[in-house]
Amino acid sequence: MKPMVLPEVEAYAEAHSNNESDICRRLREDTHRTMECPQMVVGPLEGAFLKVMAMSVGAKRILEIGTFTGYSALCFAESLPDGGEVITCDIDPESTTLAKKYWAESPHGSKIQLRLAPALETLATVDGQFDLIFIDADKANYVNYFQRALELVAPTGVILIDNVLWSGDVLKSPPPDSNTEAIQKLNRLVHAEPRISAVLLTIRDGVFLIKPRLS
Ligand SMILES: C[S@@+](CC[C@H](N)C(=O)[O-])C[C@H]1O[C@@H](n2cnc3c(N)ncnc32)[C@H](O)[C@@H]1O
Repeated sequence: MKPMVLPEVEAYAEAHSNNESDICRRLREDTHRTMECPQMVVGPLEGAFLKVMAMSVGAKRILEIGTFTGYSALCFAESLPDGGEVITCDIDPESTTLAKKYWAESPHGSKIQLRLAPALETLATVDGQFDLIFIDADKANYVNYFQRALELVAPTGVILIDNVLWSGDVLKSPPPDSNTEAIQKLNRLVHAEPRISAVLLTIRDGVFLIKPRLS
């Protein structure tokens, strides 16, 4: 994954944003020591962005698709008031075991519920409305996740979708692989969707910020 801005600019932005919590830092470092693809963690800059977004919409209920080692879920939990909840889903028992270890250490960990099943199954069973939905899992299903998120997001809530620039590969035509093609398709769909307002931000690997239009 290539950041979309110069590394020194990224570092400056990170240094001038909120610091990650001590538990998030240890979880991120442990992920880098023990996991094969540690770059999947959103990291401190995007983590700070996610927290500010959750606080901006006054989130009480958050749905996350793609837990991995639980870094972004913990960022969200830290930004929620008492009684708030994060439902996060993944299919990988190994990475989510590490997640649970660090959540158990955090005073905010009890706000997180893990659903260990394919995300489409979890999305079919959750109900009610979510103040924030974060999509950060398998790219092949991004369009399906986005379409279900439109049904689940509160009118005052937001949908965030990660990796929508895919290291810049979205510029390539024809797309070099199926993941790039899936993200290009999602980006076109979001752009054409009349029920939302959306901006594609160049934070890290690209984040779509999407808000339902109030009718
Ligand atoms: C980029 S990582 C998530 C990173 C996490 N949001 C963070 O920043 O800490 C993507 C995760 O999606 C999970 N995943 C892949 N396919 C999935 C599926 N069909 N349903 C649920 N999770 C899936 C992977 O196991 C992986 O842990």
